[in-house]
Amino acid sequence: MDLEKLTLSVCEIARRAGDYIRVERKKFSLDSVERKHAHDYVSYVDKGSERLIVSALRELLSEAGFITEEGLAGHDTEQMLWVVDPLDGTTNFIHQYAPYAVSIALLKGKDILLGVVYEICADECFYAWQGGGAYLDGKPLHVSNQQIQDAVLCFQFPYNSEAYKPVIKYLIDVFYGYAGSIRACGSAAMALCQVAAGRLDGYAEQYIGQWDYMAGSRIVMEAGGKVTDYAGSDDFTQGNSVVATNGIIQQDILSALREIK
Ligand code: IPD
Ligand code: CA
Ligand code: CA
Repeated sequence: MDLEKLTLSVCEIARRAGDYIRVERKKFSLDSVERKHAHDYVSYVDKGSERLIVSALRELLSEAGFITEEGLAGHDTEQMLWVVDPLDGTTNFIHQYAPYAVSIALLKGKDILLGVVYEICADECFYAWQGGGAYLDGKPLHVSNQQIQDAVLCFQFPYNSEAYKPVIKYLIDVFYGYAGSIRACGSAAMALCQVAAGRLDGYAEQYIGQWDYMAGSRIVMEAGGKVTDYAGSDDFTQGNSVVATNGIIQQDILSALREIK
């Protein structure tokens, strides 16, 4: 399989879905917002984007199945699986607040063969394939070399607030005033890409879905960064947590997480 060629075709599909989302945003009304759970929103735009992506990926690689956030594709028992978030950062999208993105990965067993994240507001396509490096619109990406004292960290607020509140409180307690600064960007896929691009130095989040972090994790690793789950394991593709950094500060975040009772 020519992974580079496949990745570039996936970039075109992600851009097409992004164009659809951009057009819909112009006429989007808050009346179209539905609730999956408290504070977990979805709209016809998420579903329309997913339908478009699934049908294009089916044509591209008919033997692969799907894991998609909105669950419109079925077929999740194949050896190779497309892992799709048709709109990551839905709350940002609803509020006309950047960033929001399309995220597509191809998973084979525990190997992430490729990852593509297209950010709609800035029109930026981040992509990587296994062993091939990471790119932003053709330009190679590399993680930063910041130490923790000057690192800008991204900690987010996943939907499972009850379970995550003690963790986020602890992380803020440890790193606020110790690391360079803390941000939350509202898109897991984009937090990962910003780490890959060296714009952020580290990102950690738990209670996320595979579609949130699969593509971005491949992009971080190919940009020279480190990705583990909250326990520090490299075997993170089937879990629900991710710590992604420039590598230098990975242990700083993992050590803090170990302290949480
Ligand atoms: C969410 C975003 C958000 C993250 C949540 C995700 P969605 O995805 O990535 O930044 O904090 O955990 O579920 O619902 O916008 O696709
Ligand atoms: Ca998501
Ligand atoms: Ca989504």
